[in-house]
Amino acid sequence: MVPLVTGDEPIQELFVRAGCPVCHQIPGIAGAKGQVGPPLWLGRTGASRLADPQYKGQAQTVREYIVESVVSPGIYVVPGFPANTMPAWYGRKLSAGALAKIASYLEQAADESPTGPP
Ligand code: HEC
Repeated sequence: MVPLVTGDEPIQELFVRAGCPVCHQIPGIAGAKGQVGPPLWLGRTGASRLADPQYKGQAQTVREYIVESVVSPGIYVVPGFPANTMPAWYGRKLSAGALAKIASYLEQAADESPTGPP
């Protein structure tokens, strides 16, 4: 396997090289303004995904949900967003270290606007 990223990159570079900003808005990541998928502020939205009766995955925590969403995007499709659009091959292209770093970042990420909705 030739990993896209090793996990040693700074978080900004890691996300850009993995291509996530093309489809996702990510708080704190410059240029991450993609609109194809949901904004990645799982610190705010993660718990409601796990609580959705349509959720049939294995994750027990928001962190596990993030890893599952990246490695097996077909397990749960966020309502209002297209299925079969997020690449299914990230599990083969991201090193374990990169995946851990992504999960740590996204589980804390929330809308950075101080006056935005809660
Ligand atoms: C080609 C577009 C595309 C790319 C590139 C992409 N995603 Fe996605 N992603 C989506 C779409 C569309 C969804 C919503 C549908 C679904 O749940 O599969 C999604 C869903 C997600 C979710 C679930 C979000 C939620 O609110 O529950 C996470 C987490 C996620 N992506 C992370 C990533 C990460 C991390 C990367 C880069 C390693 C990435 N995505 C790259 C399109 C993309």
